[in-house]
Amino acid sequence: MGDGGAGGAPHLVFPHGSRAPTADDTVVAVGFAVEPPEDDDTYAAAEGLLSEEERARARRFRFDVDRRRFTVARGLVRRMLSRQVDVAPADWRIEADAQGRPFVAAPADGGNLRFSASHTEGLVLCAVAVGRAIGADVERVRERAPLEVAGRFFAPSEVAALDAFPPGEQGDAFFRFWTLKESYAKARGLGLSLPLRQLAFDLDGGPRAAFDPALGDDPAAWRFFSLRPTPRHRAAICAGRHDGADVALVTSWDGLAPHGGGASDQR
Ligand SMILES: CC(C)(COP(=O)(O)OP(=O)(O)OC[C@H]1O[C@@H](n2cnc3c(N)ncnc32)[C@H](O)[C@@H]1OP(=O)(O)O)[C@@H](O)C(=O)NCCC(=O)NCCS
Repeated sequence: MGDGGAGGAPHLVFPHGSRAPTADDTVVAVGFAVEPPEDDDTYAAAEGLLSEEERARARRFRFDVDRRRFTVARGLVRRMLSRQVDVAPADWRIEADAQGRPFVAAPADGGNLRFSASHTEGLVLCAVAVGRAIGADVERVRERAPLEVAGRFFAPSEVAALDAFPPGEQGDAFFRFWTLKESYAKARGLGLSLPLRQLAFDLDGGPRAAFDPALGDDPAAWRFFSLRPTPRHRAAICAGRHDGADVALVTSWDGLAPHGGGASDQR
């Protein structure tokens, strides 16, 4: 696992000009960027990387905040992809499947790269993997846990575990569960149509998942990470390990990590 990469230059997993990654590589590259960016130039740089189609989509957002988050996230996605393979960030063609999940459509030699992006108040996240399913989610932690949501989407064991936390810690615990569940839903590409109550996480000693047989999947085929990129955010990564390979994360920050950020702990 990476050291969190708080501040300074990002860790380059496969520097430009080196060999293209292969399906045997087990590293997942995880990048965070502060949102809104620190200055207009940073924002303009992200905007400059977007395709015509992405710019048109950005223009269609009703609220500035959504336009900005989409733009910063797509800029991060493009730069993260270009850290893996020597393709210029503006040259990736990104399309969406029928479920709305974006994927790398071209260039063909980057076709084995998979990514997952997420945005929330204050932060955007992108995880990139080679030849394996990947899901990422980041959420701003709210102090009060939306317990009615837990009742609908959490497994009974998760609701019980949440209840056992002191009230002041329930908000944080809620978002640890929530991001883990969403990371899996996004790795499967199904979004929230997935019955999230059918997966139950145990947060003790690192996140471990149990799947209801009705889900028709095996938790051993996935590796989960729970991250705390800043004191106010929780994030999770779900990476496929159907090949049995172990998975390691290398995290980086675009620009400086906010004060106190950077730890990719599992607590
Ligand atoms: C995907 C989904 C879980 C996103 O959750 P969220 O917490 O609201 O938002 P996040 O910021 O974490 O993630 C959004 C990103 O997830 C990705 N995404 C979208 N659909 C996805 C899917 N089906 N699977 C995986 N990732 C998806 C995109 O990168 C999106 O960012 P973008 O719109 O800027 O490109 C949620 O929107 C959902 O369930 N969608 C269902 C899919 C759907 O309704 N599709 C429409 C079919 S016509």
